[in-house]
Amino acid sequence: GGLFGAGGRFKGGTDPIMEKFNESIGFDKRMWAQDLRGSIAYAKATAKVGILTAEESASIISGLEQVYAEWAAGTFEIKVGDEDIHTANERRLTELIGPLGGKLHTGRSRNDQVATDTRLWVVEAEKDILKDLATLLEASAEFAETHIDVLMAGYTHLQPAQPIRFSHWLMSHMAAIMRDAERLQQLIPRANQCPLGAGALAGNAFGVDREFLAKELGFDGVTSNSLDSVCDRDFVAEFLMWHSLLLIHLSQMAEDLIINNMLKCVDIDDAYATGSSLMPQKKNPDALELLRGKAGVALGRSVGLMATLKGLPRAYNKDLQEDKVPLFDAVDTVKDCLAIATGVIVTMKPNPKMLMKALCPEMLATDLADYLVRKGVPFRETHHISGACVRLAEESEVSIDTLTLEQLQNIDSRFEEDVLKVWDYEVSVERKSSIGGTAKARVMEQIEKCKAFAKTL
Ligand code: ARG
Repeated sequence: GGLFGAGGRFKGGTDPIMEKFNESIGFDKRMWAQDLRGSIAYAKATAKVGILTAEESASIISGLEQVYAEWAAGTFEIKVGDEDIHTANERRLTELIGPLGGKLHTGRSRNDQVATDTRLWVVEAEKDILKDLATLLEASAEFAETHIDVLMAGYTHLQPAQPIRFSHWLMSHMAAIMRDAERLQQLIPRANQCPLGAGALAGNAFGVDREFLAKELGFDGVTSNSLDSVCDRDFVAEFLMWHSLLLIHLSQMAEDLIINNMLKCVDIDDAYATGSSLMPQKKNPDALELLRGKAGVALGRSVGLMATLKGLPRAYNKDLQEDKVPLFDAVDTVKDCLAIATGVIVTMKPNPKMLMKALCPEMLATDLADYLVRKGVPFRETHHISGACVRLAEESEVSIDTLTLEQLQNIDSRFEEDVLKVWDYEVSVERKSSIGGTAKARVMEQIEKCKAFAKTL
């Protein structure tokens, strides 16, 4: 037993299997810095209410700074019985400064301590991820600008639909990523509330100034109810839900790229592909398949935590310790995925020849219908007429753009000489000139907006 397992209440030792089952030091040591910062602030706050003298507070703080230096230098030694990061740091503090170290925890509980550490850790991670998102957005916007003239096939139901710009496609995924970034920004103020001073569940018996604690630790404010403070893990749930949606978005982009890679429309750089152990010709888009696959596990993490939280009685229960591993894994996965996604995008090569080959004149059938609309024919009629042209081309086994004016006029006499100008992908793309459309100026608008937004992250 460690600091608490061997406490006065206990006669027997802990079953070694229980010790292993119960410990969280193996993973929560990642919060060593947050834990020490929290303790330093707490030593100041307890001195303010006279629990510690100024000298005692100063020695505790210098002890904590020593512990901090050990972690930072990688020399901190985790010992048997160090149940979690909180007990490990306190054990070491007491080794360094003696029994005075035992005064630090006055009025505090690991319940408000762990909630504080985790919130500090999450907020830091969230701010860090915002920077990664900015990198992805900026790199993609620049890539889109470079390739603004490249056209590609747009699909619905994976069926050829209408021509679009390659950059329009890329920016469509960045539109989702921009929403993700905005959502992440919105999580931060809710997570950044200080639970320290909530005690085990009922509050702090020594009247510590919680607003002072919050300010010391860079929180935006204090949590309002001590019972809620120690068991609220909404900030973890929100982050996990956020990360599953981000990874779902990345999986969609990855799938599009896998398809375009298969069609040889986009070449994925060797740096993000692997070969086959058997087939010499293979170059597999593994980075993209992993990006697609990560979303599944991510979703599991967020649903898993929600299931852990469901039906928990007030207030702290050890179930809550199960929040850390998914949280840490989520942050690591997000950072990896954003780095890989950025790398894949900046190094990929759109193949304009193959992209053009994936376009077919039938994708301009809507433009043919629109041609008659501009001559005053109701769209429902022109849709039908253009459909008849598609059928005629199909039946005569020719491409629709090779139908003669005479053949077109046999279907509808309102077709005139200038109809032949319809068979132009560039014109079709430029016609979509409303906000958010494929016209070059409109795509450039999206690119500029994305760049400006990324700078705010
Ligand atoms: N290791 C624990 C956790 O991660 C710290 C809080 C423990 N509190 C307690 N009363 N057992 O949740």
